[in-house]
Amino acid sequence: MALEHNQTESRRSESSGVITPKLSRLPGFYGLAITERQHIASQFADLSPNHSYAISNFGALTPELVDIFIENAVGTMPLPLGIATNFTINGEDILIPMAVEESSVLAAASHGAKLARAGGGFKTSSTKPIGTGQVQLTLKEPCDWDVILKEHKSSLIELANKGHERLIARGGGACDLSWRHFPEINSVVLYLDVDTRDAMGANMINSMCERIGKHMPHVLPCDVGLCILTNLTDKRLARASCVVPAKALDSQEMSGQTLVDRIEQAYLFADADVYRACTHNKGVMNGIDPVAIATGNDWRAIEAGAHAYCCRKGTYKPMTQWRRNESGDLEGFIELPMAVGTVGGVTKLHPTAKAALKLLGNPGSQGLAEILCAVGLAQNLSALRALASEGIQKGHMYLHQSNMRLSRNETKD
Ligand code: MEV
Repeated sequence: MALEHNQTESRRSESSGVITPKLSRLPGFYGLAITERQHIASQFADLSPNHSYAISNFGALTPELVDIFIENAVGTMPLPLGIATNFTINGEDILIPMAVEESSVLAAASHGAKLARAGGGFKTSSTKPIGTGQVQLTLKEPCDWDVILKEHKSSLIELANKGHERLIARGGGACDLSWRHFPEINSVVLYLDVDTRDAMGANMINSMCERIGKHMPHVLPCDVGLCILTNLTDKRLARASCVVPAKALDSQEMSGQTLVDRIEQAYLFADADVYRACTHNKGVMNGIDPVAIATGNDWRAIEAGAHAYCCRKGTYKPMTQWRRNESGDLEGFIELPMAVGTVGGVTKLHPTAKAALKLLGNPGSQGLAEILCAVGLAQNLSALRALASEGIQKGHMYLHQSNMRLSRNETKD
């Protein structure tokens, strides 16, 4: 298949001299060979050979894989991949692969892990990997929906589980159904809970919800609205905690005891002020997202769930908590929804994601969720330690300097 010649070039009409703009409307683009797409994109933006090469290389992937992963593919966007050190989680040492462009993230994660290590490392736990899907039913006439739904609850769960025998044999599958009435939109919304085992499970939950949705007009007088998972996976939680001995925080600037108090104050600041909470939480996600990316997980889903969870009490709150404990040491805690998978999606297809999971000891979804929380806590600890003592710019700028030197010497493409 080929696009009409010149479709991507701005043209000057010979008779009128008017310039017609380049069009991004490219029907059939998705069906072209990857090399043709690269050519069209390069031509559209008048890319230099260097820039064309930069959007057209495949790193650890192949053109075939890239073409399977997404539509309209032209290449890959490589990110630096680093290894955070010093992590001990539940008594075991592991190396953490992180894919991120921001200098200082790896150094900070490793530093936070070193401080936690002085107190025995991170302790983690998690709930079962239960995701939830929503089916919106708009009522066509008044009915006793609560009674009817109670009668149909188990058959609807059965319907959701149809065809998922292997998942059920592994201990997973749809396990509960509840509902809420929203009078303001004349809707009853079903909430289907699904134990997705080691999968993130978005496709599985969406298919189950759509199947239930199709059946619901036989159950209630309703139009079926949206059938989709929620990213607020508040039944799929992971937690991490650590204790940092005050003396591990001793520095030239101040005593560890003072720093413990100042870090607790930094947490209280985030708890009191949403502007600070937002930045505090960005620092937590500085740790979580790079591990999610390195392991081929959907970090947008994690971000959405994490921030919504922070609002569960009505105001946006920090993702972590820090306090001075009875012994005068610093105690930290994090709990977040963590919908990640170690099977399905690209996790088992992307060579780098596979290697990253192997580096982590091939955890299941709960193990990975717990690791992500531990890294988020370490990242936050390191940021708060710097903010509460010498300030963030000293470490940040030191690591940032080589980036700036490079941009100053950037060659013209
Ligand atoms: C920078 O990427 C992250 C921090 O701003 C986090 C924080 O302020 O806690 C340093």
